[in-house]
Amino acid sequence: MMKLLVIVVSLFFTFATSQHCPLPTIAEIESALPPLLVESDGSQSYSPNVTEGSVQYVCQAQGDTINTYEAIALIATFTPNPGEPEQTRIFDMECSSGTWTGRTGSLDPPPASVVGVPPKTNCYRCREGFGGDTRCRACDSACNTGLERCTGSGSGDCCLVFLPNGDCSDDCSSFGVDYAASEDTDYKCICNLTCALGHSPNSNCTECIFNDICDISNPCLNGGECTSFSGMNNYTCNCTGTGYHGMNCSDITYSTSSIQGMPQPSSVTSTRPTSSSSVVSTTTRIMTSFPTRPSSIFSPSPSFSPSPCRADNCGECEPDSVCCVQCNDGYKIDQDGCSCAISDGPFDATLIIVIIAIVIGLLLLLIIGGIIAFTVYSYATKGKRKTFPLKEKIGWQKKPQIV
Ligand SMILES: *[C@@H]1O[C@H](CO)[C@@H](O)[C@H](O)[C@H]1NC(C)=O
Ligand SMILES: *[C@@H]1O[C@H](CO)[C@@H](O)[C@H](O)[C@H]1NC(C)=O
Ligand SMILES: *[C@@H]1O[C@H](CO)[C@@H](O)[C@H](O)[C@H]1NC(C)=O
Ligand SMILES: *[C@@H]1O[C@H](CO)[C@@H](O)[C@H](O)[C@H]1NC(C)=O
Ligand SMILES: *[C@@H]1O[C@H](CO)[C@@H](O)[C@H](O)[C@H]1NC(C)=O
Ligand SMILES: *[C@@H]1O[C@H](CO)[C@@H](O)[C@H](O)[C@H]1NC(C)=O
Repeated sequence: MMKLLVIVVSLFFTFATSQHCPLPTIAEIESALPPLLVESDGSQSYSPNVTEGSVQYVCQAQGDTINTYEAIALIATFTPNPGEPEQTRIFDMECSSGTWTGRTGSLDPPPASVVGVPPKTNCYRCREGFGGDTRCRACDSACNTGLERCTGSGSGDCCLVFLPNGDCSDDCSSFGVDYAASEDTDYKCICNLTCALGHSPNSNCTECIFNDICDISNPCLNGGECTSFSGMNNYTCNCTGTGYHGMNCSDITYSTSSIQGMPQPSSVTSTRPTSSSSVVSTTTRIMTSFPTRPSSIFSPSPSFSPSPCRADNCGECEPDSVCCVQCNDGYKIDQDGCSCAISDGPFDATLIIVIIAIVIGLLLLLIIGGIIAFTVYSYATKGKRKTFPLKEKIGWQKKPQIV
């Protein structure tokens, strides 16, 4: 495996260095500048510092593969030596055996007509004087479709699209009938096979295959049994006997009864059809990614929890099951129908109803008591009240003070 990687990596580097260059880094531009400065400004030593973000490409002559170039013309702002004033110049760089070098004699003040203009990419050479200020010798008009690039070796060597391996091509069909490129795909040939829902192109882009989520990314954890259905991400997990529950068998269930019935992964067999291209509505496969389980968690230990079953906060489990039927006070059966979740807190509906009932009861008692007291009082003072004028009543009330 390691050997293969080394071979692949070294092949990649051999390939890369024998070919054209990706756009230069700031450091590469800085190291290309001194010979140009020496020729244009005299024989001194230079340690130029290119201002970050000042680089503008004027001409880009496409290399043999995608995002590589064999020549560029660029405008950059730099200080020739630390402390010296900045200058902005246009110059050419050329890629040779994977290394950028400056083209001497090309260090000039940039013509106003190219400053701030998007780079020309339909060039097979970048030189002063080609096509005026653009510094670009353009490809033949036959190339001026697609990416508008030539490969750099000649004006008629067109690069209209890039094959999946990065090579230039004039169409995608050489790679496969269902490959296509467009401006949207950055002129890269990509698989354009249209597949029905739940299906996707195979690695060859020759046919559509069913996306078996159980195959691609088994979502059932802890040894749960994955069953996929046609349709995007349509699956179920059978967590029976895993000691876990939930949609993906990810929630741990503490129970003694489930452990004894747990199937051993070695006895598990695949029932999944072998043909990957056949459109199957249901495939079943038992995943064996968790061959062993931490037995300490599951060892039946009566001291583990005082409750009859070991689901947290559970008072009573279903017989022979890990599922709780009766949770302890303050807990209720969770959405999974198995474990206990904290209940909604002190202000649940029943409590509010009880409070309202008590308040209404108290109000009724007060009203009835008031009616009784009033009736008794009016019976006791009957006759007197009717004959007493207001003044006399006041006088009667003041009597004790006079006495
Ligand atoms: C280039 O200039 C920046 C700030 O202008 C400075 O931080 C950096 O060290 C300089 N780099 C070199 C190689 O002198
Ligand atoms: C890809 O296929 C779709 C549908 O078949 C089509 O409309 C589209 O133009 C194709 N894309 C390219 C770049 O050819
Ligand atoms: C790719 O296509 C070739 C024939 O065109 C076929 O033999 C091969 O099995 C295909 N590979 C895959 C992964 O489908
Ligand atoms: C998942 O598959 C089942 C069984 O084939 C089907 O009834 C259900 O509608 C599918 N669900 C989705 C979201 O595709
Ligand atoms: C889950 O698997 C068990 C055996 O491991 C089986 O008895 C049960 O019927 C399965 N449940 C479903 C819903 O397929
Ligand atoms: C189950 O796994 C899928 C895929 O990993 C994930 O998208 C989903 O949110 C998970 N569901 C739960 C309830 O954990």
